[in-house]
Amino acid sequence: MTPPGPRALEILRRDSKVLSPYNRPFYYPFVACSAKDCIVRDVDGNQYVDFNSGLVAMNVGHCHPRIVEAVRRQVGELMHYSYTDFYYPHVVELAEKFLPKTPGRFEKKVFFGNSGAESIEAAIKLTKWHTGRHRYLAFIGAFHGRTIGAVSFTASKPLQVARFFPTMPGVTHVPYPYCYRCPFKMTHPECNFYCVDFVDDMVLHRYVPPEEVAAIVFEPIQGEGGYVVPPPGYFQKLKKLADKYGILLVDDEVQTGMARSGRSMLLKGDGCRFVAGSYGFKIGDNGLEGWGSLHHTCC
Ligand SMILES: Cc1ncc(COP(=O)(O)O)c(C=O)c1O
Repeated sequence: MTPPGPRALEILRRDSKVLSPYNRPFYYPFVACSAKDCIVRDVDGNQYVDFNSGLVAMNVGHCHPRIVEAVRRQVGELMHYSYTDFYYPHVVELAEKFLPKTPGRFEKKVFFGNSGAESIEAAIKLTKWHTGRHRYLAFIGAFHGRTIGAVSFTASKPLQVARFFPTMPGVTHVPYPYCYRCPFKMTHPECNFYCVDFVDDMVLHRYVPPEEVAAIVFEPIQGEGGYVVPPPGYFQKLKKLADKYGILLVDDEVQTGMARSGRSMLLKGDGCRFVAGSYGFKIGDNGLEGWGSLHHTCC
């Protein structure tokens, strides 16, 4: 049946009456009903191969039996007690399993949050706390979430910040290494990463005092910005610049992490250490869908 079918149209009509359009870009009128492995079905019975993968969240496909079983077991045992105030054995076990998969061999700790944006908020607090500085660099084309702190780093579409001014002060956006459409009209590798030199020579020498910059917040591959892959060597040069001024790096791997780019974390092994990383992955299923976000420290 050509979508949206009659049932889908009915849901769209009811949705627009009772659900806020806030933060919902509505790419197309797909009304999901059920899913298994890589197939999703809409309310009118149409079936699709899910190349969206639930917005990059369904690493092991939809309704994987082991995940369904684990969720069923857990909700039967304990649904909530508040990990912010008390202790859970499973959370400790998950952190112990996860940490060895993150970049660098040193002591780290995990913050579990509800969303990618929450992990960015945590990274803001952590880097401010750690450095005593209050400014940030982020990238044109970036997407880091929709809360006021996270949206301050986002620079992918004007709509994302329209009418929210002022967002968090102190964030300056600089060009991303987008070689296919180089903002400087240069060619890699002849450019020798002029985009990093530009940050040093023009931004940090002219209008952003480097000693006030807490961190550079980046995606190792820009997702929302158009799946932009920086050339090898870029992050090493960026790291050198950051080290020169004692600036920390915040690696947002909400899209690239958890093996979605082929490695557990994209920047693992690239010679970079990060003070904070945020990693999105799917922790629930069947109505408990959500991103678990992790944030690790290496101070
Ligand atoms: C790179 C990146 N960071 C952060 C976020 C925000 O995640 P959430 O929507 O879970 O808050 C997203 C969401 O798509 C993202 O792609």
